[in-house]
Amino acid sequence: MAQNKFLSIFTPANKQQRQDNFVDYWEFTQQHGGELFEAEQDLAKKREKLNYFKANPVRLRTPLANPDVFYRNYVDFIDDVQSIDRMTLMLTSMYKFARHEWVGIKGAWDVVPDMAHSYSLEDKISRVHLAEEFCHWRLFDEMLQTCGLDRVEWQPLSPTKEWIYRQFPKVPGVLMDPPAFVTELMGVTYYFHLHQLFDDILKDEPEVCQRLHELLDEITIDEIAHVGQRRNFIGPIGMKVSKMMVRPLYKLFFADIPEVAMLIDIEQMVKDGEAFDFNEVPDYMLAQSWIPSYCKA
Ligand SMILES: [Fe+2]
Ligand SMILES: [Fe+2]
Repeated sequence: MAQNKFLSIFTPANKQQRQDNFVDYWEFTQQHGGELFEAEQDLAKKREKLNYFKANPVRLRTPLANPDVFYRNYVDFIDDVQSIDRMTLMLTSMYKFARHEWVGIKGAWDVVPDMAHSYSLEDKISRVHLAEEFCHWRLFDEMLQTCGLDRVEWQPLSPTKEWIYRQFPKVPGVLMDPPAFVTELMGVTYYFHLHQLFDDILKDEPEVCQRLHELLDEITIDEIAHVGQRRNFIGPIGMKVSKMMVRPLYKLFFADIPEVAMLIDIEQMVKDGEAFDFNEVPDYMLAQSWIPSYCKA
């Protein structure tokens, strides 16, 4: 574990530093994801990894005792939440988190310019970023399949929430950039807690535990890079605004997934978000991810 090699994600940066970092990130992201398959919203290297996982499946030693509890409750709770076991709650929370991501990226994909019409570095970066998010949704689906849930349907959110997600990418950058950055930060925070939850809940399922870590690693490494990349859009004032947004945005988002509060300490997630500085990120993840130069000590 590296200690104090990095500075807070909220460290201010000037325009020139941020421009240089966009150039650096663009280099990174192209080699990290490989070729973009725009029609399939996919990336060559990510596809290769998902195919590897699918070709070498791992399944639970003891299948879920009652998968119907998941299928009955994964969109909305029908049963009393308190009556549902922690493993099922962890899986419904993962579905719901990924579903929000999926709705958000579907809305954005149709609004942001495609690669042929991306003339700025920022537009190109955003297009690849969205393709990566589609890969995350597929990886989450694979996590659920690993737990024996192969009948999961990806359902739209309520019309109001779908509309909100569709408007979001049309909002001017100065307003959109802080929440877009904090959302990425929230993803990283949640994934680190989810990693811990795997170890806790899957003690008797070492193979599946290991596989879920591997699948979530693929996502987490990308998200760490996204945190720096989305932060790089923001000037000093926007960074102050972003820091103030961590608490309300985390609280609002997780209020919509009530089982998360039964599994993870939301207050701790808020604190982790506000204090995020890359120093707790394991070395093997850092080696594959990207950090803005001005966050390096
Ligand atoms: Fe993601
Ligand atoms: Fe992301």
